[in-house]
Amino acid sequence: MHHSRITLHVNGRPRELEVDHRWTLLRTLRDELDLTGAKRGCDRGECGACTVLLDGKPVYSCQLLALQVGDRAVQTVESLGSVDHLHPVQAAFLAMDGGQCGFCTPGFLMSAKALLDTNPAPTDADIRDALSGNICRCNAYGRILASVREAARLLSEA
Ligand code: FES
Ligand code: FES
Repeated sequence: MHHSRITLHVNGRPRELEVDHRWTLLRTLRDELDLTGAKRGCDRGECGACTVLLDGKPVYSCQLLALQVGDRAVQTVESLGSVDHLHPVQAAFLAMDGGQCGFCTPGFLMSAKALLDTNPAPTDADIRDALSGNICRCNAYGRILASVREAARLLSEA
């Protein structure tokens, strides 16, 4: 087994750790850094439950080795807000009932954040396109769309 000592830049903090060369970023975040917000759904690049941002862009963390991340900034759902200070995207999902079982929600939140960071006034087509890599088993798509619209509204008022 091959291991290397690397530094990941996660949620604005350098995290030095020893990784097995076979570990995915998802496995490393969840099992080594205790950041369990990104979920292991399919573990094969199909569902988006594991979505995190890499230099601001959504990626499937199950499809990337920790070793491949390098200096790029990793943002997980834990970076968004706290219970007392929700990020507007989180507040909007809460207000509009954008989560049912909630398993897909962290991934949707990260994809929505990435969209709104670059396109603060998205059309419904823009939102559908930005969220097309995320699957919701509970079929909450209508409420998720409404949540992202609401998040855009909240951000425009901030
Ligand atoms: S767990 Fe990564 S895409 Fe499904
Ligand atoms: S709310 Fe259950 S998978 Fe989306």
